Amino acid sequence: MLRQPLVAANWKMNGTLSENQGLISDIKSGLASDLSTEIVICPPYPYLPEIQRLLDGCGIQLGAQNVSEHESGAYTGEVSVSMLKDYGCTYVIVGHSERRNIYGESDHVVAEKFKMVVSCGMVPILCLGELLDEREAGITEEVVSRQLLEVINIAGIDSFENAVIAYEPVWAIGTGLTATPEQAEEVHAFIRLQLARHSDSIADRIKILYGGSVKADNAAELFSRADIDGGLIGGASLIATDFLTICQSTR
Ligand code: PGA
Repeated sequence: MLRQPLVAANWKMNGTLSENQGLISDIKSGLASDLSTEIVICPPYPYLPEIQRLLDGCGIQLGAQNVSEHESGAYTGEVSVSMLKDYGCTYVIVGHSERRNIYGESDHVVAEKFKMVVSCGMVPILCLGELLDEREAGITEEVVSRQLLEVINIAGIDSFENAVIAYEPVWAIGTGLTATPEQAEEVHAFIRLQLARHSDSIADRIKILYGGSVKADNAAELFSRADIDGGLIGGASLIATDFLTICQSTR
């Protein structure tokens, strides 16, 4: 199965209006016209309308970093799927480890968010990954399958028809410690196998991205592995030349 590669930029809580304008303009002008990689940019919420305007017609997709699991109502500070849709988002990151570990999002809440994103016709980028002590305890597969199974149970396997998974070992995020291509590939293949227990065709088609200190100089090796279909990029997505190199490193 040939899956179209995807590279998503997770800007996290970075940027200003003028920095964003410069970054988008540099990315647009450096983008190869024949690039077969799909690209998604996920800026902070307030910048969505402006980034939507700047990306108009260039083929790069817009995404959000988080969303509420609720439809609307008395949820101060929250943002709904329909609001994201209003500003042209087609992708939404759900269950990023910073949401899970800093803001206490449970597997259950993440699964509810995933379901909400799918129900609105957008594509969730579901993040899965183990903490350092979990890897050291040898329970990486247990953790990742627990996180995945909760989503399958709540949203149903069919909802993965239009979803992306990002494997992000927490110990590799923002630390400069990248998983080796072998370590990443091992977990990617494991995730695909878990999905295949429910649906072979979904397991075969779904894109599984790697995230965690992907840089311009290690992206190509990671992306060359059979089950790694692209990346979710934090720090390196804020530097246009690095991000462009990463986008061009997909097989
Ligand atoms: P990083 O972040 O590339 O800065 O490690 C990745 C992520 O958190 O999605």
